[in-house]
Amino acid sequence: MQQWFAWAQIYLASAQPTKTRQNRQPSQDAFAAVGTYNNQPLHNFSITILNQTIGFIGGGNMAASLIGGMATAGANHRQLMVYDPDATRCAQLQRDYGVHIAADNNALVTQSDVIVLAVKPQVLKQVLEPLGEVCRDKRPLILSIVAGIRIDSILRWLNCDLPVIRAMPNTPALVGLGATGMFANAAVSDQQRALAKTLLDAVGLSCWVKNESDIDAVTALSGSSPAYFMRFLEALIEAGTDAGLAADTSAALALQTMRGTAHLVGSSDQALAQLITNVTSPQGTTERALSALDSGGLKDLVKTAFSAAQQRAGELAEELDPDSVN
Ligand SMILES: NC(=O)c1ccc[n+]([C@@H]2O[C@H](COP(=O)([O-])OP(=O)(O)OC[C@H]3O[C@@H](n4cnc5c(N)ncnc54)[C@H](OP(=O)(O)O)[C@@H]3O)[C@@H](O)[C@H]2O)c1
Repeated sequence: MQQWFAWAQIYLASAQPTKTRQNRQPSQDAFAAVGTYNNQPLHNFSITILNQTIGFIGGGNMAASLIGGMATAGANHRQLMVYDPDATRCAQLQRDYGVHIAADNNALVTQSDVIVLAVKPQVLKQVLEPLGEVCRDKRPLILSIVAGIRIDSILRWLNCDLPVIRAMPNTPALVGLGATGMFANAAVSDQQRALAKTLLDAVGLSCWVKNESDIDAVTALSGSSPAYFMRFLEALIEAGTDAGLAADTSAALALQTMRGTAHLVGSSDQALAQLITNVTSPQGTTERALSALDSGGLKDLVKTAFSAAQQRAGELAEELDPDSVN
């Protein structure tokens, strides 16, 4: 592992947020919501998930981060259940969080109020088709984090109508700083919406979107963008080393600046444009750099990248299930 990447992991793991604010304009509220993240026990978490059993189909990376977040937020280990064919993964989850291990997916569904689908998209059809009958009897809330699989595919494979929430988390959820977009079908009750949001907020921040097709935009915005930010970080670090800085120094300064900027934006009362102005003295260094970025078409390039990711998300859904309807 590169030295600077190790630095990055240490910084991310230790990320702590700042303060909360009242009476803000909508855009500033959105930034402030990010600033309030703290990975501490969530207010009302235990009350919201009281008496609910959350069953995970798939115990891989995302399931482990969600289970870890829920455990930190106050879930009772008796409320968490997993099935994964990999016995080693199950044993690890049991050791780390005390979760119950189900004998198979069928047994898991019979004992769960919420089923979190956390397997790879390519195996979801074969996982769901045998579960139709038990789902018709039990009628759990389905919370799918599976990328690219639409709700109509899930219901067709289960061959029943159920409340389904489709969520798109991102990799920072692995360190409790995720950003998740969610869409609920019409069968989801307000109580189930509140429950799902509470569960996903345990690994960061979550927002509802109005249409299922908006999930493709979420994929482009927060699903894929950790890589955009890391690419920018990579370029900045390289610029530093090209200028003669030691690689570790360049990496540490660049990463801390990225992290510090996110916290500054999240905790400030000022609009983004004003914060940019604040660091841009007339005829100064920042002004010269921003001018170079603008004349290089940075904003247009980001929008082109976004559109490419959004379009690919739609294509992937059709590749994974040619019968799906957007
Ligand atoms: N990682 C992310 O940042 C991210 C972001 C958004 C959405 N997602 C979505 O989250 C889902 C999980 O991703 P991940 O990164 O956690 O994948 P992962 O680490 O590969 O976990 C998936 C787990 O499902 C298990 N599995 C396979 N067949 C199963 C079955 N029949 N029943 C129960 N479990 C089964 C796999 O076991 P084997 O390994 O033995 O097959 C594996 O342990 C994916 O659909 C992905 O699209 C991930």
